[in-house]
Amino acid sequence: MILHKKLENLKQRTLLILLIIPFLSSTIFSQNDGEKIFLTVCRACHTIGQGKLVGPDLINVQDRLKQGWIINFVKSSQTMVKNGDSIAVSIFNEFNKVIMPDQALSDAKIISVINYIKEKSSTVSTTDVVDAPPFTLTNSLGFTLDQAGKDEINIGWQYFTGEKRFKNGGPPCLSCHNVVKDNLISGGLLSKDLTNAFSRLNALGVDAIISSPPFPIMRTAFTDKEITKDEKYYLLAFLRETDKNSIYQHPVNYDKRFIYSGIAGVVILLGFFGIVWFGRKRNTVNKQIYNRQKKSK
Ligand code: HEC
Ligand code: HEC
Repeated sequence: MILHKKLENLKQRTLLILLIIPFLSSTIFSQNDGEKIFLTVCRACHTIGQGKLVGPDLINVQDRLKQGWIINFVKSSQTMVKNGDSIAVSIFNEFNKVIMPDQALSDAKIISVINYIKEKSSTVSTTDVVDAPPFTLTNSLGFTLDQAGKDEINIGWQYFTGEKRFKNGGPPCLSCHNVVKDNLISGGLLSKDLTNAFSRLNALGVDAIISSPPFPIMRTAFTDKEITKDEKYYLLAFLRETDKNSIYQHPVNYDKRFIYSGIAGVVILLGFFGIVWFGRKRNTVNKQIYNRQKKSK
């Protein structure tokens, strides 16, 4: 009877897990249509027929570039630049060496984005194409980044670390990112170090990424928690300064931290499986039969 109940319990558990898995994977991998990917990821930096933004206007890109080339470029534009692909190098230079961040998308998903761009391009008349106005990031008082001084940089640092909270409740950047700064002891290791983000992406790219993060984890963290214009200004002032001064900073030792975070990851996973399988049959069925028989003797 007890065994029967336990089996019933196990069945329910298994059913629950089977029900949860497709839900989890559908929330993680639901972006199978090109439109959704374009709007959530690419649009931060590209338009279709509205001119240059951080990157080129992608109108009719399918006619200008081969599909295989686009797929490789979206996956890792810098690999192509470093391998000396002449088109990739010339676009990279034309766009002031702003790095287009790698996208972990499958070929099929990139093809679906290309199809969306093609479809959308056919609805835009090319005579409408005008470049987006030149980028000048200012705060609400109209000050430009060049006018940011020590105080602004320091406020940016406070937002970055969480010492100052974002108005709309977004998480501090430091929970996922590290920057190398002498008085900083630890930073998030989940994502890229931002010490030289400014060199990699320049103001345009960093601004686009903060405004509309093209990375799933970061996007989720800031959904409905948009960074305000002034907060962005302070963050950019801070990141620009950090980038400029990075040659004077002493890098921290990463190796140990990687080991620690590895251990933490394992512990979390084990805890997860522990919960899922809590109450599983601890002994074999044979053992239970054996115990019963021993008792009845
Ligand atoms: C953070 C900004 C950013 C994001 C996000 C981004 N790109 Fe780009 N993209 C660029 C920049 C900048 C260039 C110019 C090339 C360079 O600097 O390497 C570029 C170039 C391109 C090119 C070459 C176009 C041409 O006309 O030569 C294609 C194709 C492209 N991007 C597709 C995409 C797609 C598809 C996505 C979304 C999955 C995407 N990009 C997301 C910044 C971005
Ligand atoms: C929940 C985690 C998370 C938070 C919080 C977060 N990010 Fe990110 N960010 C990411 C991930 C993931 C990437 C993708 C790059 C990578 O794989 O590391 C990224 C990429 C970036 C990049 C592009 C880096 C590059 O060189 O390609 C910039 C710039 C950036 N984030 C800025 C910020 C800023 C500024 C904040 C605070 C307002 C912030 N992020 C908060 C997770 C996060």
